[in-house]
Amino acid sequence: MELRPWREAPERDGVLLMAPHELSAGRRAEVLRSARWSWVHLTSAGADFIDLAEWPADTLLTRSWRCYAAPLAEYALHAVLTHEWRRGAPWQERDTRSAPAPDAPPVPAGASTGGGTGLWGAEVTVAGWGAVGQRLATVLDALGARVTVLRRSPAPGSPFHQTSDLGRALDADHLVVALPLTAGTRHLFDRAALGRARPGLHLVNVSRAAIVDQDALTELCAAGRLFATLDVTDPEPLPTGHPLRSLPTVRLSPHVAWRSRDSDAAFADDFATIWATLAAADSSAAPDPSATADSSADPHSSHAPGISHAPGISDVSAPGVPVPAVPAPGAPAPGAPVPAVSAPGAPAPAAPAPSAPMPDARALDAVIPGLVPPTTGRRARAAVRALLTPGRS
Ligand SMILES: NC(=O)c1ccc[n+]([C@@H]2O[C@H](COP(=O)([O-])OP(=O)(O)OC[C@H]3O[C@@H](n4cnc5c(N)ncnc54)[C@H](OP(=O)(O)O)[C@@H]3O)[C@@H](O)[C@H]2O)c1
Repeated sequence: MELRPWREAPERDGVLLMAPHELSAGRRAEVLRSARWSWVHLTSAGADFIDLAEWPADTLLTRSWRCYAAPLAEYALHAVLTHEWRRGAPWQERDTRSAPAPDAPPVPAGASTGGGTGLWGAEVTVAGWGAVGQRLATVLDALGARVTVLRRSPAPGSPFHQTSDLGRALDADHLVVALPLTAGTRHLFDRAALGRARPGLHLVNVSRAAIVDQDALTELCAAGRLFATLDVTDPEPLPTGHPLRSLPTVRLSPHVAWRSRDSDAAFADDFATIWATLAAADSSAAPDPSATADSSADPHSSHAPGISHAPGISDVSAPGVPVPAVPAPGAPAPGAPVPAVSAPGAPAPAAPAPSAPMPDARALDAVIPGLVPPTTGRRARAAVRALLTPGRS
């Protein structure tokens, strides 16, 4: 099996790896239109680059759902801790009895945190219960913060207080935005909501700028009423002279929270886990008449499929850079350790042996990690099976 540039992909049933944020909207559309992909996997965690209304439901769309959780949680933790420990500058007070450090942000009147410092007992809302939110909540909890989780549908049995009430979410010392950008979350934190936030709230956004009304946030930070640490802004980068760049209540970073020591391997891990899930699915459990009919009628069906990559993903496809290995028969369940990686061009192992039948295609889709609804994995499962067939490249 090999990784090929997208232009060399078969016209149908190809698997595309795409770094959507590195392509212009026009280029993305061109790549997506160029073939009838059975599966498109994004190197991003967000699927907001894709117009789902126009997306063919039988083309599986998956995202890198897990690999950014650790760095994003770490970034948010750093932001929260930095804010806590800069406010009131306790080190200067203790060591020199001097005034607060000149760059310490002002504490607004009415801020509930008073002179207290540190995470122990601090109230932190984590907005979003995806991989990022879950990891962050666990770390904050370990440090003694009182964590509230904002999500659409709070579930019973969570160790954390959960809410879908925006007002409750904004009544905190810190709010970390780790939500996906969707029609439902665009400007979720609008002017009215931010205006009702607890005075002194520190908003950390590691997700997408458009989830927050940036103009309203800027005004409230300029008034010293709110604080912000923003890894994402609109636009990116902000123009020189934008007020957010100079406010003492705001800290900015240029969309770098995803970085980690080995992001290529982490990305490959996510992809390989989805691959393993698709490969493990029993073909007889999810008959796909359209796929069968299609492939027999397909003039290109003898064309060996491969994994294609869009231009932005050249880092993953460079010679010598590992590509996720095809899982062996009895591939691991989602979340299980992924087998070692193999070099491009390595011989494809045998197709997985049929496993115990699973109920139906929808149940199979439900176990595909990173699946972006409402897409379905039926054609993708068929494509992965074809790629695993001995003799195929
Ligand atoms: N800055 C960076 O470098 C960087 C890097 C990677 C990712 N990101 C961003 O981080 C985001 C978060 O990723 P993730 O994978 O952890 O999240 P995710 O899995 O996409 O988040 C799903 C969560 O969001 C909740 N949710 C969705 N709509 C909501 C609404 N209207 N109100 C309240 N909650 C809502 C869901 O609630 P339910 O549980 O009730 O369904 C679920 O808990 C990505 O979408 C991406 O934009 C940024």
